[in-house]
Amino acid sequence: MTTRYHPVLVALHWILALMIFMALVVGGPIMAAMESTDPQKLTGMTGHIIWGMVVGVLLLLRLITRFVTMKPAKANTGKTALNTAAGLTHWAMYALVAGMVLSGLVMANNADLFAITLGGSGDPLPADLAVYPARVAHGVIANVLTALIVLHVGGWAFHQFILRDRLISRMWFGKRQAASQAEAGQQTLEV
Ligand code: HEM
Ligand code: HEM
Repeated sequence: MTTRYHPVLVALHWILALMIFMALVVGGPIMAAMESTDPQKLTGMTGHIIWGMVVGVLLLLRLITRFVTMKPAKANTGKTALNTAAGLTHWAMYALVAGMVLSGLVMANNADLFAITLGGSGDPLPADLAVYPARVAHGVIANVLTALIVLHVGGWAFHQFILRDRLISRMWFGKRQAASQAEAGQQTLEV
């Protein structure tokens, strides 16, 4: 049994965490607050759409990596309810990030945003995107995802400061075998 996540999964966790945070807390809300007539909104939206689609591709890569690599045993907090909550939160985060990407794509398609931003059609941005259900969903999912990420970071703090089990090292780079396993492997090699 390995003691850490695969380095590709680790790298993708932190790249995605940063990218999702930037879109969720910085880029998305700044852009949503701009008037559709503000010329800077077009630049912001083009950037956000590309950024969001890259998140989608990396999420897919991360999911594939997760299925084909060895994972450490499920973390144990000693409380079944907490262990279940952690598992559910992890899957919900995958689903909600996918939901952000999909609702963004549907909204962009419905409002013809691909032609206006990436296609440079010259048409004005729609005055109010909230007429599209996918835009409303994008905003609602963003709030639920933010709450889950706060919960997730709370889980990390619980492991770090209360249980003091350094769970974070599983999501970092380094040797992936426990010392005893490494020795056992060494002995097999020597034979
Ligand atoms: C946008 C932000 C984030 C998202 C979407 C996210 C998502 C996830 C997911 C889905 C997993 C499960 C691993 C898997 O099975 O693939 C995970 C694991 C983990 N995350 Fe995050 N994460 C985020 C930010 C953070 C931050 C800020 C921290 C630390 C402060 C953190 C610490 C961890 C740790 C320690 C694990 C490993 C848990 C274990 O070993 O069971 N994450 N994360
Ligand atoms: C994980 C990926 C994404 C995240 C975290 C994200 C986050 C956000 C957030 C937080 C908002 C503001 C919501 C509000 O204030 O109600 C927003 C707005 C928006 N997003 Fe995304 N987004 C993502 C992907 C996408 C994608 C893939 C597209 C398009 C293909 C897209 C297009 C838009 C548009 C057009 C707006 C509306 C701006 C407005 O109301 O004027 N997003 N996004």
